[in-house]
Amino acid sequence: MSDLRDQFQRPLRDLRISVTDRCNFRCPYCMPAEVFGPGHAFLRDPQLMTLPEITRIARAFVALGVEKIRLTGGEPLLRADVPELVRALKQELRVPDVALTTNGWLLEKRAPELRAAGLDRVNVSLDSLDPATAGRMNGLGFSTDRVLRGIAAASAAGLPVKLNMVVQRGVNDGEILTLAEFARARGHTLRFIEFMDVGNTNHWSAAQVVPAREIVERVGAKWPLEPAGPAYRGEVAARYRYRDGRGEIGLISSVTEPFCADCHRARLSADGKIYTCLFTALGWDVLGALRAGADDAELARYIGRVWGGRLDRYSDERAGLLARGELRPKVEMSYIGG
Ligand code: GTP
Ligand code: 5AD
Ligand code: SF4
Ligand code: SF4
Repeated sequence: MSDLRDQFQRPLRDLRISVTDRCNFRCPYCMPAEVFGPGHAFLRDPQLMTLPEITRIARAFVALGVEKIRLTGGEPLLRADVPELVRALKQELRVPDVALTTNGWLLEKRAPELRAAGLDRVNVSLDSLDPATAGRMNGLGFSTDRVLRGIAAASAAGLPVKLNMVVQRGVNDGEILTLAEFARARGHTLRFIEFMDVGNTNHWSAAQVVPAREIVERVGAKWPLEPAGPAYRGEVAARYRYRDGRGEIGLISSVTEPFCADCHRARLSADGKIYTCLFTALGWDVLGALRAGADDAELARYIGRVWGGRLDRYSDERAGLLARGELRPKVEMSYIGG
């Protein structure tokens, strides 16, 4: 195991790979339709990493200590070769934990082949069960029926499912208990995500953030909860178990209780740039190095230098930056997959 550490002694354990910057949804908190419209320049074919390129870069990350890889997008299932990629990560690279984050729209059809390829688990976005609210939150008026069928199909295929609910005050916070009940009844872990100031265009306001503490109190008042420890080192979600034994919830509290001190996560964009934080604008072109002829050892050295210089702790700094009115440019979340 590599002893690589960043400037705050944080190891590299976890990699999120975005396989496409495109999405078939337009959630206003992520890809507002007025910004990501017909005029938006998405990545084109020669810019995108091919499957062998992703596998080679992933191999270098694994050599440096990565044990957990998550495939994201945009919407990763828009790319047809995702099962093949999963197979390479599991069978060739032997990555212990390979997961996928998806909006669920294409999951019903793809779940069995993903499972067969060795995928360990899926996280599915589910912000609302109310048709009108769900339609507003995916930006295109889609109802949740098809996503719910995707969730059921993933479960039936043997994939453990977590549900992700981005909570926005005045939009879907009235559904916290409804979603909790839905998840409890089906054995899924529901994670409540504080609305974050990702990207540059999502109209974030602190007033729309529902603090994790408030959510725990609201859920716990109905079904008593007790804290549980992290399931893996550096887990983003704080876990709580239902005292009645009916599963657990998670709270992702990047705004009110940041977790940067424990952040062991690198991100790889679909055009092969490394981002050492969700909120940075600076990408390191590892694909460029690969295409210029770097061998495996050189790729690992390149990544090692990037991680070794890492100073990111945006969520810890957010309150101070906002108070001083310091607005830094950030990468768009759909481009690096959350
Ligand atoms: P598990 O592996 O199941 O723990 O999933 P995960 O929570 O790491 O990944 P997922 O894609 O389900 O992300 C859930 C939410 O957590 C999304 O809103 C992500 O943007 C957010 N998130 C994930 N990693 C980080 C991080 O390092 N920093 C911040 N601020 N948010 C993160
Ligand atoms: N704040 C919090 N979570 C977000 N996601 C997308 N945009 C935001 C935001 N502004 C979530 C998605 C998905 C995960 C990858 O990131 O809902 O579940
Ligand atoms: Fe697409 Fe996910 Fe962003 Fe929604 S949150 S626009 S589903 S990438
Ligand atoms: Fe990691 Fe950046 Fe998120 Fe902090 S804000 S936890 S450094 S990705």
